[in-house]
Amino acid sequence: MKAVILVGGQGTRLRPLTVGVPKPMVPLANKPFVSYVLEHLRQNGVNEVVFSMGYLPDGIKSYFGDGSDFGIKLTYAVEDHPLGTAGAVKNVEQHIQDGDFLVLNGDILTDLDLRALVEFHRQKGASGTISLTPVDDPTAYGLVRTGAEGEVLGFLEKPSWDQIDTNLINAGTYALKAEVLDMIPAGVEYSFERGVFPRLVGGGLFGFSSDSYWMDIGTPEKYLQAHYDILEKNVRTAVSVCLNEDYVCVEGDVRLEAGAKLVPPVIIGAGSVINSGARVGRMAVIGPGCVVGTGSVVEESVIQADSMLEEDVTVRRSIIARGAQIGPGTVVTAGAVVGEEATVEGNNVLANNIRVYPGTVIKAGTIRF
Ligand code: GDD
Ligand code: MG
Repeated sequence: MKAVILVGGQGTRLRPLTVGVPKPMVPLANKPFVSYVLEHLRQNGVNEVVFSMGYLPDGIKSYFGDGSDFGIKLTYAVEDHPLGTAGAVKNVEQHIQDGDFLVLNGDILTDLDLRALVEFHRQKGASGTISLTPVDDPTAYGLVRTGAEGEVLGFLEKPSWDQIDTNLINAGTYALKAEVLDMIPAGVEYSFERGVFPRLVGGGLFGFSSDSYWMDIGTPEKYLQAHYDILEKNVRTAVSVCLNEDYVCVEGDVRLEAGAKLVPPVIIGAGSVINSGARVGRMAVIGPGCVVGTGSVVEESVIQADSMLEEDVTVRRSIIARGAQIGPGTVVTAGAVVGEEATVEGNNVLANNIRVYPGTVIKAGTIRF
């Protein structure tokens, strides 16, 4: 079975984390996000994957190479202008053989049983099967109305409130017959959500609902939530193995000074140093090569690689991107996001979802609430 992973989007809602890093490479519990998608495919018996890319493709290629380190044969296609979700798949048609194949949005964390999806698809003799998941607010998604046998009765991308009559949405994983490619015009922008699926209604399009874990990593809030879910093992990932029975995962050599505290669940990256009197957790992920200074507290937060928290820093429900530096006494809280290699000097208070762009310098004591 082959799969196409769509990773051409710009990830605008995840800025500033995606200013210099494409969304698939943004680290989730210290590994590029899309490596979870690959691992999930591999575990479900998929061994050939095509990455369909647009924005910042080089980092993805150089990290994953031909896929041999990940147990999957990988090929890449880069669009010079966005072709839309279906146009992107049409663009890699030469890699897809007859029969069925999978298409995956590249920004979804899930442990959906892909074998069960494909089995359902074949049993129905479907031309396309869309995985479905329930959400509270379908307006940001593709609403999918289904009948008693799972047949799709309507597909409505980004519905308005008055159009909502189900909580089931397109979960962004499809099993498709190769014939569906014939419905997609070549070389122009065309989408599954507004083109292929609405046209396929009544023509062998089915929905497969499941109660698997499902999360789209679209915003900083969801990025944090995905970390909490990995830390609490609400979703099955390779990280669950490292998080032992104590829910503490220490990746390689870490220096914990006397009096430093780890409060589970917690993940600490290799080569990090936790100074005396610092407390990390509960619900914290520290990247490799970080320093958490004396008396500092990190709670319900993500600190990416090579960041430095000086003394008495507090980070709560917030994200610090790679290589940032936070000065003494500064508080980063309530959904703040500090971009890569930004410097926030001492005695600042960053809160209220503030987003600090990469490389910014905030002088000591300039932001208070
Ligand atoms: N190669 C390529 N080219 N990939 C693209 C393009 C393109 O032109 N446009 C989007 N993508 C990729 C994105 O990188 C992402 O992985 C996926 O296609 C979906 O695009 P998003 O921009 O993330 O769409 P969305 O989140 O608003 O909605 C989609 O996902 C929802 C589930 O999270 C739709 O498929 C909805 O129907 C669905 O409910
Ligand atoms: Mg998305």
